Amino acid sequence: MKNFLISLYTGIKLRERPHGRRISPIATLRGDVNIGKYTYVSSFADIRGIGSTTRIGSYCSVARGVKIMSSGQVHAVDAISTFPFYLIDHDLKRTDFMVRKGDVVIGNDVWIGADAIILPGVRIGDGAVIGAGAVVTKDVEAFQIVAGVPAKALRMRFSAAVCEAISASKWWERDYSDLKPFIHRIYAHGQDREEGMQETLALLTRAG
Ligand SMILES: CC(C)(COP(=O)(O)OP(=O)(O)OC[C@H]1O[C@@H](n2cnc3c(N)ncnc32)[C@H](O)[C@@H]1OP(=O)(O)O)[C@@H](O)C(=O)NCCC(=O)NCCS
Repeated sequence: MKNFLISLYTGIKLRERPHGRRISPIATLRGDVNIGKYTYVSSFADIRGIGSTTRIGSYCSVARGVKIMSSGQVHAVDAISTFPFYLIDHDLKRTDFMVRKGDVVIGNDVWIGADAIILPGVRIGDGAVIGAGAVVTKDVEAFQIVAGVPAKALRMRFSAAVCEAISASKWWERDYSDLKPFIHRIYAHGQDREEGMQETLALLTRAG
């Protein structure tokens, strides 16, 4: 029985949506949630855009169990009670209860590790990495790797020059068919890669 349940869980495939997005049929997306092209959202992810908007860029990886919260998940901690009385009294409106936070804005090519939690109003820059199980309470810079509870910076992915060159290339605005000729270069990794990356970005720019 346990093995059957595990195979059911791991066997549920991401479902392809328009613009190459892939969303697991057992992920929950509720409210005003905008997702860019090719981004995938894995099983048991729970993304809310209630009372504020949640925007996720293109080519993002959203792992299993990730939770992205919006204003709808904020109870007022400075009131006499945090209880959502609108649940038991239909004369009350949910919107009156909500504590408004800003939108969650997640850039492009962001990798969010399994079971990470993104709190309402957080902004995450392009190319950032969120460690598994992190609780992200503050904004994350582009190309920064953060992890832990609360999430703290581990390091930047690249030198400032390469971060700038990748940002300037805006490769994530392109369709995959434009990237495909360069894909092995884009994917290459390992030590001393920065020079090769600059070459690849220059090739991409020329091809654009
Ligand atoms: C965040 C992550 C990318 C960092 O990888 P990395 O750069 O190779 O980092 P390292 O393994 O060298 O670890 C660096 C330090 O961060 C800590 N660390 C790494 N990941 C962590 C995490 N998720 N939470 C807390 N601390 C973490 C390590 O313990 C280490 O600490 P130390 O310097 O005190 O020893 C990776 O650990 C991670 O969480 N990946 C997500 C995997 C995942 O969820 N995949 C889902 C399928 S897509």
